[in-house]
Amino acid sequence: MKDRYGREIEYLRISLTDLCNLRCVYCMPEGGICKLPHDRILTLEEVVEIAGAAVELGIRKIRLTGGEPLVRRGIVDLVARLRALPGLRELVLTTNGILLPELAKPLRDAGLDRLNISLDTLDAEKYRRLTRGGELQKALDGIRAAEAAGFAPIKLNAVLLGGVNDDEIPALCALTMDRPIEMRFIELMPIGDALYFGKEACIPVDTVLEKMPQLTPLPRGRSSVARRYTLPGAKGSIGLISPVSCSFCSECNRIRLTADGCMKPCLHSAEEFPLRGKHGDALRRAICDAVNAKPEAHIDFTGTQRSESARNMNQIGG
Ligand code: GTP
Ligand code: 5AD
Ligand code: SF4
Repeated sequence: MKDRYGREIEYLRISLTDLCNLRCVYCMPEGGICKLPHDRILTLEEVVEIAGAAVELGIRKIRLTGGEPLVRRGIVDLVARLRALPGLRELVLTTNGILLPELAKPLRDAGLDRLNISLDTLDAEKYRRLTRGGELQKALDGIRAAEAAGFAPIKLNAVLLGGVNDDEIPALCALTMDRPIEMRFIELMPIGDALYFGKEACIPVDTVLEKMPQLTPLPRGRSSVARRYTLPGAKGSIGLISPVSCSFCSECNRIRLTADGCMKPCLHSAEEFPLRGKHGDALRRAICDAVNAKPEAHIDFTGTQRSESARNMNQIGG
């Protein structure tokens, strides 16, 4: 599917739930969320139908997100059903890792191709503060379980927060020395609860290059938004994702489906296309309408601007 600006749209991110077993300060309001009523959430059958229509139209990669996708009941069965869609090249998932000790192996057996796992800090106290009560050891056990289940390469996502975890850049990069993981640093986007942090937290990912001058560039991965580097002698790599300082809209290849069944042409715009209740041609037409509505770029974040998205990050899934 090509959009109005000639971009090939082949990547669909599906948010399976707005619920999460953590409460990261940049993602969720402190008092928890105003939970979507059960009947507003797409059933797994509806998710498979929409994904199937999107794959028929040319989607080649699907990422499952949340909230936290692993709290959605039936997730392993859903993975197996999506994996069976003819024409789908890659089925991947982004998680906080907490439930991976139980689920990594069943997900692998169901055909999940890859996992990205959030890890903002290696300090247990800081992890507890950032996630409002989460246990670092559980996330680390989840990463180990993913490795043991045979997932590779595993990508770890750290949202870079000035004054919070920028002192841990060397320690996080060191995780790549003896394991084939990609450690990625992401600029904090001014969306929803991310405004919890002041200006000083919003630092460019190039800070990583300043602190780690020994990093050498690697070729860009296919359909990935990260610039990649490696440390001398390392088994893994480092990725820098700069949605704020250097927007990658001109190469954007993705659309997003929310848990309540709306297609979002762009992460940062308020426009949405409801798909619920549509089938066959009408469903395919609505998906094409969303692709055709993709804006050329999102608004400039360098000033005091914030995202125009009407939703918080836990309702979009990044
Ligand atoms: P790979 O397929 O492994 O490269 O994953 P990914 O980077 O597409 O997915 P992931 O869920 O790990 O997202 C990493 C970060 O990139 C998150 O902070 C996302 O919010 C951000 N991101 C992903 N897609 C977009 C996008 O279209 N626009 C912007 N601004 N940020 C995005
Ligand atoms: N800016 C950048 N990344 C974010 N994430 C969540 N909220 C934000 C934000 N405001 C990240 C999570 C997860 C990924 C899907 O998105 O840490 O790794
Ligand atoms: Fe949950 Fe991920 Fe949001 Fe943290 S960033 S609250 S782990 S959905």
